[in-house]
Formats: sequence, C-alpha cells, structure tokens
Amino acid sequence: MRTKIIGTGSYAPDRVVTNNHLAEIVETSDEWIRTRTGIGQRHISDGPGTTAMAAEAARRAMDNAGVSPEDIDIIIVGTTTADHCFPSAACEVQGAIGAVHAVAYDISAACSGFIFSLNTADALMKTGAYRTGLVIGADNLSKIVDWTDRSTCVLFGDGAGAAVVKAYSETDDRSEGVMCMNMGSDGQKASVLECQSRTMENFLTKGQPKPGYITMEGQEVFKFAVKKVPECILKVLSDSGTDISEIRYFVLHQANYRICESISRRLKVSMDRIPMNIEEYGNTSGATIPVLLDELNRAGKLNPGDKLIMAGFGAGLTWGAVLIQW
Ligand code: UT7
Repeated sequence: MRTKIIGTGSYAPDRVVTNNHLAEIVETSDEWIRTRTGIGQRHISDGPGTTAMAAEAARRAMDNAGVSPEDIDIIIVGTTTADHCFPSAACEVQGAIGAVHAVAYDISAACSGFIFSLNTADALMKTGAYRTGLVIGADNLSKIVDWTDRSTCVLFGDGAGAAVVKAYSETDDRSEGVMCMNMGSDGQKASVLECQSRTMENFLTKGQPKPGYITMEGQEVFKFAVKKVPECILKVLSDSGTDISEIRYFVLHQANYRICESISRRLKVSMDRIPMNIEEYGNTSGATIPVLLDELNRAGKLNPGDKLIMAGFGAGLTWGAVLIQW
C-alpha cells in the first residue's frame, strides 16, 4: 500500500495582529521581530478554537480532493491545544464535519504534530485497515501564550492545515505518495520548551490550579533545530536512496526564518527550494507545514512526480521528516 495526499486545505483566523500591534503591549519592535525571526504579522483567533479551525481546513481539503465526509475512515489531528482535555480535537472535528464512518484521535507532538500524524496514518494505511483519511495540524497557541513575555509572544499565531490521504494498492501507480519517513524524540530536553498543565492540583494537594503558559529557552531550541532537522532529512534521503538534487521543495516548519536559512546552508540547498510563509502567519505550531503545503498546492507549484520533503521539530523535544512524491 502507498499513502498519497490527494487534497489539501487550510484556515487562518481573519484577525491579523502586526508586529507594531505587539509593540504596544510588550517592549519590542517590528525591526527586532523581523530581523530575528522573519515574522511580520500573525493571525490570532478572537472566536474559532482549534476544532473550528481544523474542521474548516478539513472541509477545504475534502473539497480539494473531491471526497465527502462519509468517505473518511480515519482522522488524526496533530495538536497540543485541543479545545478540551477531552474529547479530542479529532473527535470534535469528526462531529463537526459529519465523518460518521471514521475513527478519530489526536497526536501530541507539538510543532512536529502534522509530520507525526501523517507518518502514523501512512503506517496504518499500509496495513490495509484504512483507505481514506484526514491528517490535520491545528493549533490555537494564542490561548497558551503569555502575552507579557516578549521572548515568546511575538513568535506564535493560530491556524490549521489539512491533507486528505488515500491508500493505493500495490497494483496502482506506486511511484506516488509517502516514500520514506523518520521521527525522533528526546524527553531529556522536555523542559526547554513547555507549557505546564492547568490542572495539576487536586483536593489532596490543596493548591489552586494555575494557568500554564508557553516557556522556552529560545537559543536551545534554535541549536537543536538547526542540527536535528538536517540530520533527519539526510536520513530520509539515505534510507530511500534519493539524491538531494531530486527534491523539488523542502517544506519546513515555520518557526524562524534564520532556522530555515541555517538548514539551507547545512544542506547546501538554495532558499528558492525552501518556501516560506512565516512573514504572514508566524509560528502556528502543528499547522505550519500543512498550511504551507496547501499554499504550494493551490498556487499550482506542485506537479505530479515532484519529490518533497516535509520536516518539522518542536516541543518534546520531537522532530520528523517525510519524503513524498506528489
Ligand atoms: O516551534 C518551535 C518553537 N520555537 C522555536 O523554534 C524558537 C527557536 N529560537 C528562536 O527562534 C530564537 O532563539 C528567538 C527568536 C526566540 C530569540 O532570538 P535570539 O536571537 O536567540 O535572541 P536572544 O534570546 O538571544 O535575545 C537577544 C536579546 C535579549 O536582550 P539582551 O539580553 O541581549 O539585552 C532579549 O532580551 O533580545 C531580547 N529580546 C527581545 N527584544 C525585543 C527577546 N525577545 C525580544 C523581543 N523584542 N520580542
């Protein structure tokens, strides 16, 4: 079995918050944010939560793929900001779109969430258990950002991206779809990027629940990303016997323009093969990669036969890459 992406969709809230807006609430500047990160603005939700954003991205992806909700037999959402502790965002998306025949669940891998979800869907589809799936990366980070912390609040935004995936049997065209993947995690480094649970107290511990916000050792995450992402891309290339020159685009997690530039230098790949949209959205965590993929798809930049590598990294720490042929 081969898992192929047959449609994409994305959603970002209408409300745009510019760097200058943020300079009104914390001590920062448009110049600092642009030069250190490449971010010019972000979309922040003043209404729709993770489920609503994910469901809209899913509807757009199904429309693009020409499938109906009844065709979907599995939904996986990569998110760390589900609207509720339970049910999962995926079950809520299932309810919202009416995918009555699907099994639905979330994967928690932060900014690597879409890659982990796609690789998990691929592995399940290879067993023959599922035929048509929705893989979604969605996050509503604005609700867990500390809006008084300038070192983190300028980085993040809200959004969702989705892909419809379909299993093709061995007799179909085997040269398309997911070709090779690689994932990793390092729990020893969990504390460099975290958001504490909001419900850590109970009647025995007598404390009051405290709100948890994102905390990050930015430079540690930066160093980890520029080392691990090229490593896992090179592993996917060597495991699949693919030369780096064959890759049309590297669709990378949008966390910092400078991280992507550093990856481009390490891989000796020019930036015109590393599409970027961080200027528009900031870091939307699990959503960055599928939103970027959707933009490339809708702009007609992906041609049948093109090889792409999607790669991300995030809290956990986690990282992953997947090689697909469009
Ligand atoms: O999805 C994964 C999530 N996260 C990431 O990938 C983040 C990875 N890390 C990064 O992108 C970068 O480390 C940051 C963008 C977070 C920070 O950039 P940096 O070049 O590593 O800056 P820094 O932390 O070394 O801070 C430099 C200075 C400091 O001031 P001093 O100590 O030199 O006086 C900070 O206090 O910049 C200051 N600073 C700011 N100044 C204006 C930190 N944040 C801001 C800000 N505006 N928003």
